[in-house]
Amino acid sequence: MLTRQTAERPAHAPLDPSDATEEATPVPAVASLEATGRLPGAVDLECYFGREFVPLVDAKIGVMTHGFLYGTATFEGIRAYWNQEQGQLYGLKLLEHFRRFQNSAKIMLIDLGHTAEELVEITVELLRRNGLREDVYIRPTAYKSSELIGVRLHNLDSNLVIFSIPFGEYIDTTGGISAQTVSWRRNSDVSIPARSKIVGAYVNSAFAKTEAQLNGYDEAIVLTLDGHASEGSAENLFIVRDGKLITPAVTDDILEGITRTGLMEIARNELGIETVERSIDRSELYVADEVLLCGTGAQISPVISIDHRAIGTGRIGPVTQSVKDLYFDAVRGRLPAYSHWLTPIF
Ligand SMILES: Cc1ncc(COP(=O)(O)O)c(C=O)c1O
Repeated sequence: MLTRQTAERPAHAPLDPSDATEEATPVPAVASLEATGRLPGAVDLECYFGREFVPLVDAKIGVMTHGFLYGTATFEGIRAYWNQEQGQLYGLKLLEHFRRFQNSAKIMLIDLGHTAEELVEITVELLRRNGLREDVYIRPTAYKSSELIGVRLHNLDSNLVIFSIPFGEYIDTTGGISAQTVSWRRNSDVSIPARSKIVGAYVNSAFAKTEAQLNGYDEAIVLTLDGHASEGSAENLFIVRDGKLITPAVTDDILEGITRTGLMEIARNELGIETVERSIDRSELYVADEVLLCGTGAQISPVISIDHRAIGTGRIGPVTQSVKDLYFDAVRGRLPAYSHWLTPIF
C-alpha cells in the first residue's frame, strides 16, 4: 500500500491524487509491485536525477547516452525494510552501500559529486518523499551521460540517478532452491572487475541466470576462470562443512557483498561460528552439509540441490535456518544488537 509522507515537495513534483486540480491528471497510487520490481505504468514516486528530486516517470535519458550504448555505468542495490509493529522503515547498511558505490565509481572513472554520507542523506530524503510503508528497493546508478559514439571511460560526463520502489521477495527464501553450476564463467578481474557493480558486467549474470532457469533450476552458480565456485548470479555463496562456514575469498572474482559481511558477523556473534574465506572446488558443493546464497535481493536463500545432487539431507540445514532467522530479525529492527546496520527513515 502506498501512502504519502508530508515532506515538502518541489514545484515540479507530481501532485498527490488527493490534491489534484482540474487540469492535473491524478496519478494512480500503486498497491504492490511484482517481486522483480517492475514498475506498472504511471506511479506517484519521485527519484533523484540530475541533482534534484523529480517525478520518476519524467526521469529520462537520450538513446545516445554512453551508459546505454556501452554499459558504462555502475549501480547499487539497497533494501529498506518496513517494520509494521514499530511503524518504521529501516534503510539497511546505507553507508556501506554508498561506500562500495564510491569504489565502483572510482574504478569506472566516475566522479559521483557527492560523498557517501551525502548520498545517505539524499536517499533518506527520497524515501521520506516517496512515503512507502512497505519493503523498498533502492537503486542508485551513476552512468556516463555524454551522448556520443566512442568506447572509453575517460573524458565523458556522468550523471547520477537514485530511485526507490516497493519490493518483495527476489528469490524464494522459504523452501530452499535448486541450483546449477552453469557453463558461463564469472567475469574476471582481468577483464571486468567483479568487485565493482558495473552495469555492462551484469550481462554475464544474465547469461548465467538464464542458462540455469531455462534448464529448469532456480538459480545459477558461476565458476571462476580456473574452475572454483565464485557466486550466484547476484548472490554470494556460503557452504557449511563440519560445522564451519566457508565462502570464496574476495580474490575469487566475487562482488564484495554487504549481506556476506553481515552474515559472517551474525554467525560469529550469535552462533559462535567463524567463516573461512578460501577457494571452493565445484565438487565441494556436492558434498557440503549445507549451501546458501545471500545478497540484498535474494536475502538468505537456502540451496537444497545442485546439479541433481541433494545438499546434505536435501532440506534446509540448521546453520542456514538459524542465520536466516537472525538476519530477518536484524534487518527488520527486532535485534537491538544490530541497530547499527539500520537507518530509521521516518
Ligand atoms: C553478482 C553479485 N554478487 C553478490 C551480490 C550480493 O551483494 P550484496 O549482499 O551487497 O547485495 C550481488 C548483489 O546484489 C551481486 O549482484
